[in-house]
Amino acid sequence: MHLTRPEEAMLSGKEGSATQKCMQILVALGEIYGAERLVKVSSVQVSGVSYKNLGDAGIEFLDGLAKDGRARVKTTLNPAGMDLRDWKSQGISSAFAEKQLRVIDAYGRLGVEVSCTCTPYLAGNEPRFAQHIAWGESSAVVYANSVIGARTNREGGPSALAASLTGRTPLYGYHLDENRRPTSVVQVKTPLESAEDFSAMGYFVGKAVKDGIPFFSGVRSAGLEELKTLSAALASSGGVAMFHMEGITPEASVGTAGAGTMSFTSRDLRDTRAMLSDGGSIDFVSIGCPHCSLAEVRTIAGLLRGRKVTKEFWVCCSREVKRQSDEAGYTSELEASGAKLATDTCMVVAPIEELGHKAVATNSAKACHYLRNSGMRVHFMTLEECVSEATRKG
Ligand code: F3S
Repeated sequence: MHLTRPEEAMLSGKEGSATQKCMQILVALGEIYGAERLVKVSSVQVSGVSYKNLGDAGIEFLDGLAKDGRARVKTTLNPAGMDLRDWKSQGISSAFAEKQLRVIDAYGRLGVEVSCTCTPYLAGNEPRFAQHIAWGESSAVVYANSVIGARTNREGGPSALAASLTGRTPLYGYHLDENRRPTSVVQVKTPLESAEDFSAMGYFVGKAVKDGIPFFSGVRSAGLEELKTLSAALASSGGVAMFHMEGITPEASVGTAGAGTMSFTSRDLRDTRAMLSDGGSIDFVSIGCPHCSLAEVRTIAGLLRGRKVTKEFWVCCSREVKRQSDEAGYTSELEASGAKLATDTCMVVAPIEELGHKAVATNSAKACHYLRNSGMRVHFMTLEECVSEATRKG
């Protein structure tokens, strides 16, 4: 792989041991994937932030890099295992909190912004069309490639951090035009009436196309909320990193030559929704996978007006969206009902099983997928049904 002089200097250790280690990671990755060279990145988003997933070995790795490493480009984090400012009210143990805060402290010393969200594009980390970036959170990767038209592979925690500390990533995969063409045309033969319908469709299609690139045709309109939940679902049941949507996403004019064909029908929608629900009682409700937009927080606050929650109810969003919600008065409305507007975390990466919860209602197919894999019972509902469930008496 060709390296420029500054890149050679990083690899030789002239810019410190952390930079050298990161460059070694990138060169090894580049050689595995046949990259001819590295490319500069404008933005990084690092996944692998929750202590629940990182463990003590992760803290040691980060502490080692933080001795002389420093982020060279804007870098933000994926959700952590708790609300970093309000973890006590979430019932998180001091032992877990102490470890989680050590993780965050190490990232802070590395110059990474403590903005822990899977929707960095709603919180000031907003790449532009055609920019090369290195993002880790799978739902954000799909959103960035597909909706924004930026270019990123599905980075792991170490490779994203390596991109941050060197400002570079190997040029392969979704960074190249030839790997951004659709592999399957999905003829959407049913009206999609809510964001949850997009979520269910993403779950169905992700399972079918695996790591392919679906091209959706027949979708009349889709806004930010629909596209972000579709992105999340596609990346959870499958390994999708990008999709196109006719008339909606910026690279859909690439065409569909050579792609296979499948359809998504009203029956597929109904069956997928049913398959994502286990039945039985519910003890925890959460909305915000991916993290809520301000419009979603506003809708939830409106639905909660004059009502009290009867079970634990988390509405998850970024700090930036919470700041906007505070200003608009939605936070106080929402909290008056007893619901929690949780930042920095989500129902999947927080240790909710340790808090005694066993059955979760949520409007996200992705959350259902991962919560079920961790042994929880799940119920896939619309946003309105989630609010009704959270406030249901008896
Ligand atoms: Fe975000 Fe957590 Fe879902 S990281 S996409 S809210 S699983």
